[in-house]
Amino acid sequence: MSRTIIVSNRLPTKVQRTADSLTFQPSEGGLATGLGSIYRQEGNVWVGWPGLFVEAAAEEQYIVEELSADSMAPVFLTESEIRDFYEGFSNSTLWPTFHYFPQYATYEQAHWEAYVAVNEKFCRAVLELAGPEDTIWVHDYQLLLLPEMLRKARPDCTIGFFLHIPFPSYELVRALPWRSELLRGMLGADLIGFHTFGYMRHFLSAVSQVLGLSSQNGQLETANRTVLIDAFPMGIDYQRYAQVAASERARQHEAEYRAALHNARVILSIDRLDYSKGIAERLRAFEVLLQRYPEWREQVSLIMVVVPSRDQVAQYASLKEEIDELVGRINSQYRTITWTPIHYFYRSFPLEELSALYRLAEVALVTPMRDGMNLVAKEFVASKVETRGVLILSERAGAARELSDALIINPTDTAQLAEAMHDALVMPEEEQEHRMASMRALVQQYDVFAWTKLFIDRLAYSKIKQLTLATEQLTPEATAQLTANFQAAEQRLLLLDYDGTLMPFHNLPQRAQPDQELLLLLQALTANPQNHVVIISGRDRTTLQNWLGHLPLDFIAEHGVWLRPVREDWQLFQPLNNNWKQDIRPIMEMYVARTAGSFIEDKDYSLVWHYRRADVELGDVRARELLNHLTFMTSNTELQVMEGNKVIEVKTAGINKGTAAARWLAAYNPSFILALGDDRTDEDTFRALPNEAYTIKVGSGVRSLARFSVASPTEVRNLLRSLL
Ligand code: UDP
Ligand code: G6P
Repeated sequence: MSRTIIVSNRLPTKVQRTADSLTFQPSEGGLATGLGSIYRQEGNVWVGWPGLFVEAAAEEQYIVEELSADSMAPVFLTESEIRDFYEGFSNSTLWPTFHYFPQYATYEQAHWEAYVAVNEKFCRAVLELAGPEDTIWVHDYQLLLLPEMLRKARPDCTIGFFLHIPFPSYELVRALPWRSELLRGMLGADLIGFHTFGYMRHFLSAVSQVLGLSSQNGQLETANRTVLIDAFPMGIDYQRYAQVAASERARQHEAEYRAALHNARVILSIDRLDYSKGIAERLRAFEVLLQRYPEWREQVSLIMVVVPSRDQVAQYASLKEEIDELVGRINSQYRTITWTPIHYFYRSFPLEELSALYRLAEVALVTPMRDGMNLVAKEFVASKVETRGVLILSERAGAARELSDALIINPTDTAQLAEAMHDALVMPEEEQEHRMASMRALVQQYDVFAWTKLFIDRLAYSKIKQLTLATEQLTPEATAQLTANFQAAEQRLLLLDYDGTLMPFHNLPQRAQPDQELLLLLQALTANPQNHVVIISGRDRTTLQNWLGHLPLDFIAEHGVWLRPVREDWQLFQPLNNNWKQDIRPIMEMYVARTAGSFIEDKDYSLVWHYRRADVELGDVRARELLNHLTFMTSNTELQVMEGNKVIEVKTAGINKGTAAARWLAAYNPSFILALGDDRTDEDTFRALPNEAYTIKVGSGVRSLARFSVASPTEVRNLLRSLL
């Protein structure tokens, strides 16, 4: 039976040392709490670090035994690995960079080396456990290199990756000296998931700009595989939070807290100690609330739970000091004998007590500067079984994309935040209920089980796709079969791309006119009326007409804009206009000016930027830029941007080689179909044809929808000759 092996840096159980023993406690942090509910199913295993340094072998053994009884397999880190991999590269380089705090990021070669070494250590641990049928699901920023390492060891293995933190804009990623290695590491997976569409978009843009790989509909083509990229907003175990909140224990705790607080109204804040959480800003906003609205003094208290985290990292230690000082100052300034403005806890709470706090609070303040998702926001909602309470939520938390009935604020706008607290405290119950009910429905529906299922199903799908996409080299046996099918068929349709397929590329496109050998070959093929030979090209119709028009061929020109069935006149695929050219041409001209050797081809109904003659590296960089630029300019228009072999083309959407080829299928109803092509635009043809068609990709490298591949135009000609 196949299992899922979950891999993350931190296990859902953390081992801690007390004076005379070891204790086993649930870990904090969204990854561990979120996935904690699902990993025990169906013989799954969770591989990760138990959170402490262990020296004695006997102690290690004890921990292994205890954890394995609960489906966990620990990976132990040495002291220097904890320092350089965990506190260093993971939490002093990647964490600040990905949370838009580049000023806190350090770039240490030694930390990078430790990061590579620990990812390798995790790789070995996983390979020891995983069978060939198992699914491996890698989590989070500490293990970005692991998917590729696993892929090298097990090329056919099913590997998913999910990032629990934001994926930032390319402008931040580019600051990392190891950006290409990190991105390539992630691309070892079959499926890469993010919490939001925004993070996914940033990732695709970084991959395009750093690695020069482009994507279509969330599919990335690497040299030998397709990687799916998608957004999966993570949920929580809704039932569990709702049940605990409804339990007698939670109610009792709540009653005790209420009495102790003399029934003051409660605003709640719960986070790990982290500068990404906006804790200090939140305290300042609470102070502004007390200044602006003195009526809330002695009426409202802030309960602030800060869970200790990463306190060996300098920025965390100084944040702790800042919070201590702020709380001290505000409390000393405003407190009275009977009222404390801020109840501050620097520790973690067991679930039932957390639940009582969620019950107690009228307002939850979830105001991070950046947060991948933020599960506290969802836990608060799930715990509000009485359907009242107000969530104040930062627009920069992933959760804000879903919980739109929260009061959404900008966490750096202290005044706005103070106003939001006031608004929340005076919000009519009816409105609270209305908002809370719709958020509860959402959190209930998209819970962590739904999230897991969605991800795992999509991962299985990516694998099926991968298998069906296996393009094979055209062997002599396959050629023999092809020829036999050809001979047996009454009506035969041959769809032949021109450049790169029938003719090798030439630096100057106008020099690639057909040679004598090709003309004779086409002549011989078309001599038999059973053969319908279509030249299916991106070229303009005049060139095709001049070069090949004297032969009884059919033509598809300009990637499907112009059609010419044999012995008929040229006709447009559909009525078209060219008004858009005046907007698009200046953009292309700008790139021509900046890229020596590139030029614009103005076809009847499309514009093409050619860069075959430009400096290779510069051309690739500019092509990425232009592609992004044009895609942006043409979004929500009737235009499409297409990438070919060293060309970028803009034309009316919905017209491509595939839609054009479909007309020939309908006209001839052929029992044998052969399609040959070398670039992305030919993939449209391959996609449009029935499964039994012989689709053949010319050239190596990028993956194709075609069933077979041949190396070069020379082989194409040999193949065509074998049909005669
Ligand atoms: N949490 C906890 N004990 C506490 C306080 C918080 O286990 O005393 C949990 C909380 O319930 C939540 C997680 O820590 O599930 C924090 O996850 P979140 O996504 O909000 O932030 P992260 O820590 O992942 O950045
Ligand atoms: C966030 C990260 C997790 C991490 C957790 C706690 O949720 O996304 O990967 O485990 O914080 O941080 P820690 O450093 O204690 O593992």
